[in-house]
This record gives sequence, structure tokens and C-alpha cells, in this order.
Amino acid sequence: MRLDVTAAVLSVRVPAYADRMAKKPTAKVVFECVECGAQVPKWEGQCRSCTAWNSLVEFAASESAIERNLPASRPQRIGAVECLSTDFVSTGISELDRVLGGGFASGGVVLIGGEPGVGKSTLLLQALAGVARGGRAALYVTAEESVQQVAVRARRLGFGDSALTLVAEHSVERIREHAVSAGAEIVVVDSVQTVSHASCDSPPGSAAQVRASAAELAVLARATGATVVLVGHVTKDGALAGPRTLEHLVDCVIAFEGDRYQSLRAIRALKNRFGSTSEVGIMEMGGHGLVEVSDPSGVFLADRPAGAVGSVVVPCLEGRRPLLIEIQALLAPRSGAYQRVSVNGLDQRRVEMVLAVLGTHTAVPIAERDVFVAVTGGFRVGEPAADLAISLALVSAWEQRPVPAHAVACGEIGLSGEVRQIGGLARRAAEAHRLGLNVMVCPPTTEIDIDAVDVRQAVTLNAALGAAGLTSGRGSAGSRAHAPGPSGRERREV
Ligand code: TYD
Ligand code: MG
Repeated sequence: MRLDVTAAVLSVRVPAYADRMAKKPTAKVVFECVECGAQVPKWEGQCRSCTAWNSLVEFAASESAIERNLPASRPQRIGAVECLSTDFVSTGISELDRVLGGGFASGGVVLIGGEPGVGKSTLLLQALAGVARGGRAALYVTAEESVQQVAVRARRLGFGDSALTLVAEHSVERIREHAVSAGAEIVVVDSVQTVSHASCDSPPGSAAQVRASAAELAVLARATGATVVLVGHVTKDGALAGPRTLEHLVDCVIAFEGDRYQSLRAIRALKNRFGSTSEVGIMEMGGHGLVEVSDPSGVFLADRPAGAVGSVVVPCLEGRRPLLIEIQALLAPRSGAYQRVSVNGLDQRRVEMVLAVLGTHTAVPIAERDVFVAVTGGFRVGEPAADLAISLALVSAWEQRPVPAHAVACGEIGLSGEVRQIGGLARRAAEAHRLGLNVMVCPPTTEIDIDAVDVRQAVTLNAALGAAGLTSGRGSAGSRAHAPGPSGRERREV
């Protein structure tokens, strides 16, 4: 069914598309920031957009490829718009399919970003092998490695005889020709920073070149109905090396995260025009490529020592999925004039805010120590719900006293030292209960309906410290029961 549609699109639209490509673009000179892609009409020493110095370079701006290929516009009533259903092609990797919204969407452009070495090429090679197994035409364009290197990897991963097609190519124009002549339904370009388009004079990887190449490949997707997957390297702070403007041009932005020295990887949708952005896929890199992880919480907690001080488990919500993650804190004698706060896997500013609240509203003089806080397993936790677990881990490390075995903690901390509401408490409690962690320190709730879970509700940070068996709270000032209590159930409220 889909093959017929694609064939029709190829035969009807491609000649017109080729004609339009031949049109001479109009060019004018502007200056573009190589850091953020901002454009200004004249040279300036500092980019006004991202404040980088000496980052503006001259370049000839031409009408974008997308603009050149748009049909003439025609206003129409919303009800009269013809809606085409999106065809999804499964990758055979259910964790990836879920994050994509069902698979690779026909005519869509997907950007997969991740740090070098995290496993982007491996993931996409496996995904394309899955596509080819499903009888769909798949083209893998390698612009970084040779076809031999990719083929050796495919053999090692057990699909050396897959029907997927490989080509080593840097030119976007030739990639377009290969994709059209192969009738490819999925085209992976690895990576967008190493290909180039002849209309752009800037070197591969520069903001202008990445954008020109991506725009041209987006036109290929729209014109042929193929899904184009762009691989992009991101810098340590998570930004795509090159222009952020690429994120507006594509339909899905997928982040492939993980520490390359650890085995767990997370796939998240940061933007998805075809599905929800609240899904996360968890995979593990092993000797035979990436495998799906069916019980991530179990894996995250596998190496957790019993009764360790400075260790607290937080039931996180990654989209709709609850995950139990261990947060560790360590306090060391101060090594310099200023306090050192070293954070791994958490937002540095949130940890600093928690330290300030602890210093102001509790009797814990943490400012005298160097602070190390980390999420184990190489995972990243972004939600404010982790604030309470960070606080308890720090105080546990300060007192050299563990929190109760089988306890979890979650809640946002406010600047007044209050424990604030977070969403999805029932789902978080259910996941903790599933893994036998049946004590939960959290904000006031009536949501949790599991008898075996000892719900310790706290309205203030001091109260939460008491609920977790820690003693550094400032007397009883903030440690009072909240009102009203949950109806019909026995709760411990502090
Ligand atoms: P790669 O997919 O090349 O990363 P990227 O494209 O993001 O730069 O994978 C890089 C790492 O993955 C490499 O250092 C080795 C590791 N790896 C495994 O551990 N097991 C495997 O089966 C494969 C194929 C790679
Ligand atoms: Mg790679």
C-alpha cells in the first residue's frame, strides 16, 4: 500500500522538484554567528544573540531550499484541508518506536543528537536493520566512517546480511540522487555535520552549512515521503554543535543520552510533531550493540549498597514512566577558599538552591564542606521532584547516618524551606512498591492507595528530615502536621 503511494510521489513530484532545484537562488551578503546561527546585516565584534566574541562570519544568504520548493499558497477553510494519515515504519526497537510516536513517520525529518561515542551510529544501524527486516527500503549514508567499518559493525551485531543499503557520501546533492534512485523509505545521514551542500560556501559543520544541508534534506523528505534521519553531535552542555535553528526545521528532536563509560542509555523526544514528548526509552550498550532494558529501575538500583550514608532513592517520572534512581552525596573537608560544588547528572543550579535552603532553614552547616552530588548509572535527572532526595542525601552524608532501608523521597523544595507538590505520586509509589521500597517521604497527598506503603508526608524540609530519621532539623518550628489529612487512611504526617 505504502510502496504504491511512494512510487506515485516519486514519479509525479520529483521532476518538478528537480526543475525547482535548478532555479538560481537570490543571494545577499549577511553575517552569521558560527556559535548560534544568528544573522545580522553588518559585522560586529560580539554576537548580540549569544554574546560570543569574534564569531560572526560573512556568508551569502540565499532563499532557503524549503522556501524555493513551497507551492503557491492558497487560503482555505480548516474543514476543507485534506488530511493525510501518517504512515509509521517500525524500527523493530520498541523503546525507540515509542519515543518516535510509533516508528519513523513518512515524510518526516528526525534529528538524533548525542555526544560523540554515545552510540548514535550503532542505534541507527540497528534501527535500519529492523526497518529492512520489515521489508522497507532503507539507506544508511555514512559521512564519517567508511562502508567497510559500518559493514564490519553490522556483521558483529549479527545482521551482516541485512537488505539495508550503505553508501559513503558527503554531498547532499548525491545523497538526494541515491535516495531517489534506491526508492528509500528511510534515509539516515550520519552525520549532518559532515555533509555539505554545493550552494553554501561555508565548511562542513559550520552553522550555515549544517542548516543548508538539513534544509535540502528536509525537502527530500517532503518531496518523496521518505523519513530523513539526521545524526547530530552535541557538545558537553547538550547544544547541537552548529545552529540551534536546526531544531525548528525538523519534525522530531531526539536526544540520545548516557555516559559513554557506562552502559545505560536514554532516548528522549525533546520535540515531536508525530507523538508525545513524554516518553523515554532505556537501552543498554553491551558487547552486541544496544539492547532494550525491560526493568530500568531494577538495573539502576542493582549495585546500591545496603545502608549507605548519603544515598537516597528518588522515584522520578520520565514522561509517564516512573524510574527509581539513586542519588548520592558526599561531603569532604573544604580544599580552597570557596566551597566546591561538584554535580553529576543533576542541574547544578538546583543543587546550589537546595544547599542554600539547607543552610538557611536547617541546622546543617554544609557551607563549610566541599560538596559532591551524583546520580548513579550515568543517568540525568532534570525534575525538581528530586530536590527532596538531594537534601536528604546531603544531610545523611553530614550526619553519617543512613536514611531508612527501603525508603524513597520525592518533592520539590521551595525557597522558604517548604516541600512543594509534584505530579504522579501514585505512579511513583507504585514503582517503589514494585521493587520493595515501601517507605515514601513526600509532600501531602491523598493519591497513594497502596496499603503496604508507609507514606510519610511533610510540609517542610525540617519535617521531611525528621520523617527520614535524620535529626538536623531546626527543632519543631516547621515540623507540624499538615492539614487536611487524607481521608479514610492511616498516614504518618509530620
Ligand atoms: P557509536 O555508535 O560509534 O557512537 P556515536 O555514533 O554516537 O559516536 O558507538 C561508539 C561506542 O559504542 C564505541 O566506543 C564502542 C561502543 N560499542 C559497544 O560497546 N558495543 C557494541 O556492540 C558497539 C557496536 C559499540
Ligand atoms: Mg557515529
